Amino acid sequence: MTQLNRTQSNRLFEESSTLFPGGVNSPVRAFKSVGGTPLFFSKGNGSRVWDEDGNQFIDFCNSWGPLIHGHANEYVENKIIKTLKNGSSFGAPTRLESDLAKLIKENIPFIDKLRFVSSGTEAVMSALRLARGYTGKTKILKFEGCYHGHVDSMLVKAGSGLVTLGSSSSAGVPESVASDTLVLPLNDEHLLTKTFENYSTELAAVIIEPVPANNGLLLQDLSFLQTLRGLCWKHRVLLIFDEVISGFRVAFGGAAELYGIQPDIVTYGKIIGGGLPVGAYGASNEIMAHVSPEGPVYQAGTLSGNPVAMAAGIAQLELCLSPDFYRTMEAKTRRFVDRVNAYATVKNYDFELISLASVFWLSFSGIKSIHRADEISPEMNSFNKLHDFLLRHGIYLGPSGYEVGFISSAHTEDELIYSATQFCAGLDAVYA
Ligand SMILES: Cc1ncc(COP(=O)(O)O)c(C=O)c1O
Repeated sequence: MTQLNRTQSNRLFEESSTLFPGGVNSPVRAFKSVGGTPLFFSKGNGSRVWDEDGNQFIDFCNSWGPLIHGHANEYVENKIIKTLKNGSSFGAPTRLESDLAKLIKENIPFIDKLRFVSSGTEAVMSALRLARGYTGKTKILKFEGCYHGHVDSMLVKAGSGLVTLGSSSSAGVPESVASDTLVLPLNDEHLLTKTFENYSTELAAVIIEPVPANNGLLLQDLSFLQTLRGLCWKHRVLLIFDEVISGFRVAFGGAAELYGIQPDIVTYGKIIGGGLPVGAYGASNEIMAHVSPEGPVYQAGTLSGNPVAMAAGIAQLELCLSPDFYRTMEAKTRRFVDRVNAYATVKNYDFELISLASVFWLSFSGIKSIHRADEISPEMNSFNKLHDFLLRHGIYLGPSGYEVGFISSAHTEDELIYSATQFCAGLDAVYA
């Protein structure tokens, strides 16, 4: 059995473990879920990444979603370099902020105004404050299995790294904060309606990943999302779509465009920054008028709207706007997914690649059509074995069975055929 040479990665991890908690700067990178220690990367180009030992991988993590055009895309890179040569930050407005905002506004009709921040977490935190400031109400409803960043009030039965680490909430979040967050299972219209009957007068907002992609890929029934929209309108509760993953990924206008449902506030991250740290939240003029300095809801950031990050975002989104971009991405993802699923069906394996647009997730639950967090098989042994097999065969997936994979425009058809073949061989090894 081929083993990876991890000499340099192991040495670097030993060192980083003396510098950072768990040796990393974000928990899911630590390989705790799949076992072993992380690879340290030194280079990325197109669909490929190289680690410090010179191992090469086809990358399906893509920095957890931002790199929709792969690594070191030439067009994005050139815009970054050109901008950087004129200075990296001013703490004053630049035209690039307006250029990126216009690009978004022209293509996403429900946004009148935006505010750029530096991460998805910051976007969500600010959107929640805005919702509370606008409505004058306190409680927030979220859904089990949706991850909204490490905002205190959202670390309540959250997904992503938290589920991976086997904990349902975080130490350090006071009960008084957690108790202002209500948590419901996804895709349950009955419970949702009941909750609105009981709590709507206290609810400032409902926040949802309209394409929940942090705890498996839990596709929601359109009717559930439509019911949610209707209830929020009826009870004057703001609907926040957290499109940090789905924005500019499942369509340029994210899930809002895909499903034809307009949220009151939207949050973005990941793709919007072209691989640099950017987040944003946006809404109608009426709602955004509450944000400082126009209104009383305070929110600020030294590096918000950073010109280099804005340039990266503009370049990346311009590429996303090329004709047929999303159709092509979806078609090539579908061919990849169908190849693997057809094989799993013939072999009678309890396995399915669930996908939407260019996002996919490896489901070992044996149930088709998973919509809720409690339908995910808690047994991650099979994923861990497959992850290890794929690493040894030149394919890099995010190191957790709860996380989704991303296909970029840099993945070639040949690479996807090779990858599908390795997925199938890996399944044989898992089910042997
Ligand atoms: C849906 C969603 N919201 C918010 C966040 C937080 O974004 P960031 O990691 O940039 O703070 C994430 C991160 O994965 C996310 O997937």
